[in-house]
Amino acid sequence: MSEPDGTELIPAPRRLVRDGARRGRLHQGTRLVAGPGTEGVARWLRATLGAATGLTFPDGGGAAPRLTLSVEPDLPPEGYRVVTGAADHLIQGGDAAGVLWGAQTFRQLLGPDAHRRAPLRPGRAWDLPAVTVEDAPRFAWRGLMLDVARHFLPKDQVLRHLDLMAAHKLNVLHLHLTDDQGWRIEIERYPRLTEIGSWRARTNFGHRASPLWEEKPHGGHYTRDDLREIVAYAAERHITVVPEIDIPGHSQAAIAAYPELGNTDVVDTSALTVWDTWGVSENVLAPTDHTLRFYEGVLEEVLDLFPSTFVHLGGDECVKDQWKRSATAQARIRELGLEGEDGLQAWFVRHFDNWLTARGRRLIGWDEILQGGLAPGAAVSSWRGYAGGVTAARAGHDVVMCPEQHVYLDHRQHDGPDEPVPIGYVRTLEDVFRFEPVPPELTPEEARHVLGTQANVWTEVMEDPARVDYQVFPRLVAFAEVAWSRLPASAERDFADFERRMTSHYRRLDALGVGYRPPGGPRPWQRRPGVLGRPIEGAPPNV
Ligand code: ACM
Repeated sequence: MSEPDGTELIPAPRRLVRDGARRGRLHQGTRLVAGPGTEGVARWLRATLGAATGLTFPDGGGAAPRLTLSVEPDLPPEGYRVVTGAADHLIQGGDAAGVLWGAQTFRQLLGPDAHRRAPLRPGRAWDLPAVTVEDAPRFAWRGLMLDVARHFLPKDQVLRHLDLMAAHKLNVLHLHLTDDQGWRIEIERYPRLTEIGSWRARTNFGHRASPLWEEKPHGGHYTRDDLREIVAYAAERHITVVPEIDIPGHSQAAIAAYPELGNTDVVDTSALTVWDTWGVSENVLAPTDHTLRFYEGVLEEVLDLFPSTFVHLGGDECVKDQWKRSATAQARIRELGLEGEDGLQAWFVRHFDNWLTARGRRLIGWDEILQGGLAPGAAVSSWRGYAGGVTAARAGHDVVMCPEQHVYLDHRQHDGPDEPVPIGYVRTLEDVFRFEPVPPELTPEEARHVLGTQANVWTEVMEDPARVDYQVFPRLVAFAEVAWSRLPASAERDFADFERRMTSHYRRLDALGVGYRPPGGPRPWQRRPGVLGRPIEGAPPNV
């Protein structure tokens, strides 16, 4: 294995040429020349690299030493070129996003300490290999879904994850804001959604077969200003925030807050509370005009806060038992001439699909929304494997591939006894590295509908930010390489080379303060011995 020379870039770039054994240098006096359209990146660079290195990057042109940022029309969207010389360095992008991704590569070339929040040794010299890197992403949608509903992540953690995403050239944060166990977004016209819906009295610790309870309230929500800050912080990092508001299932927290949203003719929804355990609640939205108007009101405020073209409306795992028993739901099925309860679910989704389309936005939902027909602009998150994605792409819908068999990061990364609660599949770092987002059966024409890919982080068993770090890293690093780099077919991918680069990347993660799972297994304080680390006797597999 070759010695690290500072060029162990992750994600792997398309082209990297070393300029002999020369080293470049950043000086106290290195000036920052920010061309038109690169002002945001200059701000990021001064704030982030400035904090890490202690360098101030004064404004200026003139003679070297200079770090020059520019947008160059010959480069592709999000593509970049980084050229490091003895004292003069260039970061060029096809657009401002490309310049930012180039700046991330530049930071990696400076070494792990350039990822710290403050200089470890103030005044030290900063050198870097002399290289030319030319790069561009494979996919336009390189996503991370954070479930902030099951366990709330405070705003500072969301901002931190945006920084970590940017460091890995990921560009879509899908925020799962509502679910049975919590409602996390302030809606001005419906204050009870957060007053009531954002807190639960206790929490099942582990999964739904667990006998353990955490007997303390859990909750929290983002105010409108919090969300504006998150969206702006993301935008500065060329990350789009896609909000998810779930309909018609995964809605018990909303029904607990506003009981009339539920199927009041079959269940006393006024007695419902925010759910304290896991699984799929049977308390789903009532298919009434009142519910439609209520959620239109919610979405009006969502559109105000989130400029993203796509708005995720969930649509998964809607249990139909209450609709089967509800005279109101059955009357609606007859009145609209729908095909049973499945038709009712499709009617719900179609209503908001049209509603969003009329406002210049596009609906995206989990692959269950394919049942019943979609507006042409609607897109699908394919989570139950590849099949939903294949069907959607063949029907001309855009797709984000996030199959649970490969990129659900709540699943364990090793089956050792010190690992967290078993859910789903064991998926190692190498498994994620070998994940191929484009289903092989698609023709090139159909494959163009694969916008990209996304790793999903469901937080039922991640009760605090440390657990999130442990589950997400280092696998998100392998995922970022899958989403960004043009890799060969899965079987031919060079995992040994990835591991070699990971040796340097673990040092970067250390500097970034990420509590990842080390290659040899959990650190003592990351262990989950006993009942939580083992399948619970009698529990179904894959819960
Ligand atoms: C999902 O995992 N239910 C989208």
